This record gives sequence, C-alpha cells and structure tokens, in this order.
Amino acid sequence: MIPRIYVPADSGALALGAEKVAKAIEKELAERGVEAKIVRNGSRGAYFLEPMVEVATAEGRVAYGPVKPSDVKSLFDSGFLKGAPHKRWLGAPDKIPFLAKQTRLTFARCGVIDPLSLDNYKAHGGLKGLQNAVAMAPADIVKQVTESGLRGRGGAGFPTGIKWKTVLDTASERKYIVCNADEGDSATFADRMIMEGDPFVLIEGMAIAGIATGATKGFVYIRSEYPHAVATMNKAVEIARKHGVLGVNVLGSPNAFDMEIRVGAGAYVCGEETSLLNSLEGKRGVVRAKPPLPAIQGLFGKPTVINNVISLASVPIIMDKGAAFYKDFGMGRSRGTIPIQIAGNVKHGGLFETAFGLTLGEIVDEIGGGTASGRPVKAVQVGGPLGAYFPRALFDTPFDYEAFAAKDGLIGHAGLTVFDDTADMLKQARFAMEFCAIESCGKCTPCRIGSTRGVEVLDKVASGIEAEKNLALVTDLCNTMKFGSLCALGGFTPYPVMSSITHFPEDFKPAPTRVAAE
Ligand SMILES: Cc1cc2nc3c(=O)[nH]c(=O)nc-3n(C[C@H](O)[C@H](O)[C@H](O)COP(=O)(O)O)c2cc1C
Ligand code: SF4
Repeated sequence: MIPRIYVPADSGALALGAEKVAKAIEKELAERGVEAKIVRNGSRGAYFLEPMVEVATAEGRVAYGPVKPSDVKSLFDSGFLKGAPHKRWLGAPDKIPFLAKQTRLTFARCGVIDPLSLDNYKAHGGLKGLQNAVAMAPADIVKQVTESGLRGRGGAGFPTGIKWKTVLDTASERKYIVCNADEGDSATFADRMIMEGDPFVLIEGMAIAGIATGATKGFVYIRSEYPHAVATMNKAVEIARKHGVLGVNVLGSPNAFDMEIRVGAGAYVCGEETSLLNSLEGKRGVVRAKPPLPAIQGLFGKPTVINNVISLASVPIIMDKGAAFYKDFGMGRSRGTIPIQIAGNVKHGGLFETAFGLTLGEIVDEIGGGTASGRPVKAVQVGGPLGAYFPRALFDTPFDYEAFAAKDGLIGHAGLTVFDDTADMLKQARFAMEFCAIESCGKCTPCRIGSTRGVEVLDKVASGIEAEKNLALVTDLCNTMKFGSLCALGGFTPYPVMSSITHFPEDFKPAPTRVAAE
C-alpha cells in the first residue's frame, strides 16, 4: 500500500507554516523517488503542536509536530514513513494528552479524515443520522433533538429542539435553515475548524434541520475572514449535491433540501441573528426588533431556523446514537459536549471538546497548561468580547450555562482568552466599551451613545479625575446599557466592564496609586 502522509490544510495550521511543510515533503518524496499520498486533512485542534504531520503505519497513525520545513529531510532520514522516532515524534495522536483527555462527539472526524472525501466521511460514521432522519416523521426528529438537551452553541444557549418546533408548527409555503458561521467572538475558532475539517457534518446537520421543520433551503453565512472555510464548504456542497445528499430527493427520500454558502459583511453585529438575516437579504446589518421571532418571520419574512455551526454539527450524532446517548454527557441543564477554545496568553492553546462540567481552573491550568509567558494567570475572559473576566478566585466555576450565569458571566461560544498578571483590567474595561462603540449597529441609544460615554468616563478614571465619582457613573451607565439595549451587544458589554471593576478593583485606583502599587 502507498504510504499516506497527513498534512493539515486548516487555516490555523497554514498560519503556522503547514503549506511550506507540505511542499517540503513533496520535494523530498520526488528527490528520493518515494511514492506516497499526501492527504490534506483538517486540524485536530492541538494548535500548539501544529503543523502536526501524521503518517499511517501498519500499527496506526503516528504524529510529529510541530514540524518545520527544515525538519523534513531528517524526518525522512530517520524513517518517519514507518513511524520511527525523531525529535518531533509525538506517537499515536489519540494518546497525546491534550487529545486523549477529550470526548469527541461533534469533532470526532475533524483532523482525522480527508474533509472532502464523502467515502471517508461515511467510513467514519457519517450520514447515519440523516439516514435515520429521512425515515422519521418531522415531529419525531424535533422530539429527539429536544430530548437530547442540545442548546444553541452560538451564545444564548437556547434549546435547539424548541426553536425547531416553532418553525415546524408555523405553516408556510417556504421555510429556511440559516447557519450562523459569522464566528465573531474573540478566541473562537470551532466553527471554522469544523467547516474546514469536516464540512459534511454541517451539511448533514442542516439537511436534518430542514427535514425536521419543513424547510427546503439553507444558507450558511460565513464571515469573510474565513476564505478557506468558504472554499471548503462550497466544494463540499457541490459534492453532496452530486451524490444525492442534497437535492430534490435527499438520500433517495421524498424530502428536498439544498443549500448555498454566503460570505458575511464583516461586522461583529452581523453575527446577531436578526442583523445576519438583514445582511443575507442584502440590507445593512442592523438589528431587528423582536418579536416577531425569526422562527415565525425570519429570512425574507418566512419561518427560519437560525442556528450556530456547532449546534447544527452536533445534530447528526444525536440522530445516529439517540437522545439518551447525547444527554448522558454533561451536567445540570448543560447536556452533551462543548468544544472549548483555549486562546490568549496560554501554553497549550487549541480546541478541547469535553462534556460540560470541568472547572475553569482545570481547563486553564491543567489543560491549557497556564500562561505561555510563564507568569501567573490573572484573568480569563470567557465567552468572547461580551463575556466576563474571571479571576483565579472563581476558578472553581464549572463549565455550565447556569453556573456561569450565577457568577455574572456567560459561556457564549465557549472561547477563553487567558491573561497573565501584566494585564491592566482598566484598559480591558475601556476596550470593551470601545469595541461596543465601534461595532454598535446604531439602532438604540444606550449602546450607540452609552458606549462612547463609557470610553470617556473610563479615560477620566485612568487619569485620576474624580475616580470614585466616575466609577459610580460607569456602574450607572452599565445598568442603563444592560437593561435598555435592544440586543446583547449593548446589553452584555457591561459584563467585561463590571467584572473588571468587581474582581480587580486595584486596577481602577487613581493613576499615582496604581503606579506606586506596581
Ligand atoms: C452582537 C452579537 C453577535 C453574535 N455573534 C454570533 C456569531 O458570530 N455566531 C453565532 O452563532 N451566534 C452569534 N450571536 C448569537 C445569535 O444572535 C444567535 O443567538 C445564534 O445564532 C442562535 O443559534 P444557536 O441557538 O444555535 O446558538 C451573536 C449575538 C449578538 C448579540
Ligand atoms: S444594542 Fe447596539 S448593536 Fe444592539 S441593536 Fe442596539 S445599537 Fe444595535
């Protein structure tokens, strides 16, 4: 058998030099006259080991990483095609501690298969969920998804099955499935990773959503900063259409479902579902007032399921293995697994899929390995730019929607940004207000005006101008934004601001004291 070498074409791996490594391997093969097939897989998500090259041996796959182009010659010399030892040798990928500790349900195939091989997808359990779904009544599919306990992974954690039921129960000659792949949160890359590494799982999830609700058309709205994901998804849709996974008779059934890929407009607020729908319709990305809910009047005024990539990509395994299987993972009302994305100043950055329930401390210290700088962790922002900053004192908080809400925080899309003790939390609070001012769609006053006033007042605090009085003003402003904003951009910006003030009060002392303290 011709040896197989896996070199990720995932954009994270490419950013770390995977293309040059692939070229160096090609060159070395040609020069040595060795025949081998280079497979461009996705990433397994251990980014601190990328570019991670794998070879298929008789004993299974063997990984090497992080591989530099200059390592390639010595890899061949030491016999890496047979999995031989080398300074970059990591052993079997699923034994690498960062990967071995995970529970991979949604990301089971990511980094393992050739992303654009439908045969490979099927050989690893793909399409089983859809096969089951086409033989079921729509209400039964909705019931199974509801019973699995799956909640939206885009941020709000709304039960997916309940959203689908509203669309199923709303009569209309046309309904839509919209996949939110805008992935604007800082520290997040789960949507991108799965679209690049296992695109058919998203297509399968969307087809199931269509059959469950009576929608025959789907759109994936992908942020423009993800050109590789756009290209992979476009190719995968074409392949799925050619093989009858999409089309007028999905998997030979009487159900029709087709989909298109659309590229985003480049605004954070276009990830908000109603703003996204406006953008998809070719309008400016401004938030719509609710009601009506998109499930009743969404895209082009028709009933629309709008779900995050990971919500939809988690559906195939639920339809394959059953609601009870999925629900068995997790804690409280947070069921199943969550792909936690660990980033910022951290030693072992990457994607870690696990059942809900690990504590924040376990994730940051044990899995993430602490900071990359080697300094103590000061704060972790959980849930993107609208998420709260958690101090070490709250590291016992379990990763669970309700547990985070009880500590005035949120899980969001499960992105973690780690900061060491050099972080200035006043600057971070100011950044949150500034971000909101820049990204505000402008529709409501607390967000549009409040965020700009917030920047000004925090600047006064930083300059030591009536610090106490101005901090009280910031708190007042945060309450107005929290309760008076139309959407979560203005409504949640108070989370990073207030958590910084609450947990790191020393950073908000007047400048001379702060300098003296340092
Ligand atoms: C300002 C803002 C930005 C958002 N950005 C995203 C995003 O990039 N991706 C996403 O899936 N959801 C985002 N959301 C949440 C969506 O509005 C919506 O809740 C989600 O698409 C629903 O899908 P889910 O139920 O599967 O999570 C954002 C919300 C707000 C307020
Ligand atoms: S909170 Fe901000 S982003 Fe949301 S609708 Fe109001 S102005 Fe627009």
